Amino acid sequence: MKDLIIAANWKMNKTIPECISFISDLDIRLSQWELNPKLKKLGILIFPPAISLHPMNGRSKFISLGCQNIYFEESGAYTGEISVKMIREYTEYALIGHSERREIFKETDKEINKKIKTSLDAGLAPLLCIGETLDEREADKTFDRLAEQLRSDLSGFPPIEIEKIIFAYEPVWAIGTGRTATPEQAQEVHAFITEEINKISGRENKRMILYGGSVKPENSKELLTKKDINGALIGGASLNVESFFAIIEKSLELV
Ligand code: PGA
Repeated sequence: MKDLIIAANWKMNKTIPECISFISDLDIRLSQWELNPKLKKLGILIFPPAISLHPMNGRSKFISLGCQNIYFEESGAYTGEISVKMIREYTEYALIGHSERREIFKETDKEINKKIKTSLDAGLAPLLCIGETLDEREADKTFDRLAEQLRSDLSGFPPIEIEKIIFAYEPVWAIGTGRTATPEQAQEVHAFITEEINKISGRENKRMILYGGSVKPENSKELLTKKDINGALIGGASLNVESFFAIIEKSLELV
């Protein structure tokens, strides 16, 4: 397990040429640290649009790729969906349960649970996103909501499988809004999530939990120094190579 994971979620942005140009540019920037042992303690991940996974594959030994979404069936009459079998060769991670999938595409916890299973069965590490809405936070329901999501999403998995899952805490009110949770707010929630996962799995373990929601070069270091924050899932600030690289550069000082 890496000490810190810095992940880019590009959502529905960038054409294939733009994706290739970004990864090539980032690879050149990262190669200056090729001999720096700290680089190995940093997991650098990009979740591009699925169509770019194949063209981006093999273009950087420093960067791993992940799929933004998968379907839980292997093949069949599921118009518009992508199965794990189709992308397995080009990706190591699968982003599951992002709040945009939950809200816009009405993905349920039951489907999310199936997607985690599919991803684990295929040997892809799931990156499971959970988070509360603004209404839930204001009604003091943050912890209840997170516990509920974790219990449903992780239902039926033995501890050994839960160990393979990476988590991302993404307060919905902080995504794309410029409003970040304070490092203290995030730490409090990350500690709670760790405890909940330990309860569900019945094992006391260190968990990889990333924070996501308006992370940028100006606030990343403060968030990543917190004890239970093991990385960042970055949307907007990851679309620009300078700002994504700046976050990586700052993270390198922390590993
Ligand atoms: P943001 O997105 O960094 O633009 O807030 C984060 C995410 O949606 O994963």
